Amino acid sequence: MVSLGFFVDFVPIEKRFLLAIKNRSGKTDLEAIMPVKHSLYQNAGEVSVDQQQCSRCGFCVSICPAEVLTLEAGSVQQLTTGFDCIACGHCMMACPKECISVNGRGLSPTDLRPLPPPEQRADADALGALLQSRRSIRHFTERPVEVDLLERIVDMAASAPMGIPPWDVGVATVSGAPEVQKLATEIVTGYRGMLKLMRPRALALMRPFIGKSRYEQFSGFILPLAEGYVRSQQQGRDTLFWNAPAVLIFHHSPYAEAADATIACTYAMLAAESLGLGSCIIGGAPPIMQRNRAICQQLNIPDGNKPAIALILGYPAVRFKRSIKRHFSHQQKS
Ligand SMILES: Cc1cc2nc3c(=O)[nH]c(=O)nc-3n(C[C@H](O)[C@H](O)[C@H](O)COP(=O)(O)O)c2cc1C
Ligand code: SF4
Ligand code: SF4
Repeated sequence: MVSLGFFVDFVPIEKRFLLAIKNRSGKTDLEAIMPVKHSLYQNAGEVSVDQQQCSRCGFCVSICPAEVLTLEAGSVQQLTTGFDCIACGHCMMACPKECISVNGRGLSPTDLRPLPPPEQRADADALGALLQSRRSIRHFTERPVEVDLLERIVDMAASAPMGIPPWDVGVATVSGAPEVQKLATEIVTGYRGMLKLMRPRALALMRPFIGKSRYEQFSGFILPLAEGYVRSQQQGRDTLFWNAPAVLIFHHSPYAEAADATIACTYAMLAAESLGLGSCIIGGAPPIMQRNRAICQQLNIPDGNKPAIALILGYPAVRFKRSIKRHFSHQQKS
């Protein structure tokens, strides 16, 4: 059989969609190739049903978000239309008879877990209290963050939703104050280089091309921020990673949205809070990291993946006495 892996990159998505529909009845190489690209997985999920156990209730069919399951001729069948099976696992999680399996795209039935019992789940009051007491922490004790705690945070963050499964987001963990400081120094060096290029006169010349708001953002925020990083480093202070003992860097492939990485980071921040750690999201690190392959390689961030957001972590050296109510800029009253 001729492999179409090379060729299919050049077949427009609509064509692959049509070919998949055309070939519904018989399996071909082309059918198995998923139109939704992923940096690691090319193929769609493969669904199998234990027909002996299946009650034909149709629950899996109705719950499938990709609409690729059908009850035809008295049994559940997998279609290869549309996105094909994205391997979200919903059918496996919902089936009352535990008789449907999905394999592929990094998913298998071994990933299934029992649901946490209701009494263990945070209710609105508990979750609200966690959210309301969390603050961005920029002062840490010297206590290192235990490796198993960092792993637990990453595990908890992986439960977040993503644009389309499976995750095409990675996490690079930098653990230990000296390692974090080394990374901070490299990033601030990058900012120093940027400041040499982005002198106010050069920025003024760019204004007609970058637009008013971008210009204002650069001149009023990004340049002063970069100057602040450089100045504080000269004074022996770290205003990038705030002397944190650990940093998580969330990066994503070209096939995933930056929002996926940001949502994962937000989950990690809440997980850290629940574990008694302080944290702060750091948007100041990725812009330099994105332009510095050497830094990415040191952190084993794959070629093509983009650092999107960072999260510093540590044991808090400050405690806030009060919380605060914040308001969205626009909120439609119902
Ligand atoms: C996308 C994003 C980027 C951020 N980047 C930074 C940063 O680079 N440095 C920093 O000290 N704080 C950063 N923060 C933290 C915010 O400044 C902080 O959330 C805000 O001041 C509100 O404080 P609170 O989190 O305690 O409510 C960032 C937060 C977000 C959501
Ligand atoms: S949900 Fe399970 S039992 Fe019901 S039709 Fe699907 S595979 Fe069969
Ligand atoms: S894993 Fe998700 S997309 Fe695939 S068949 Fe099951 S519900 Fe549908």
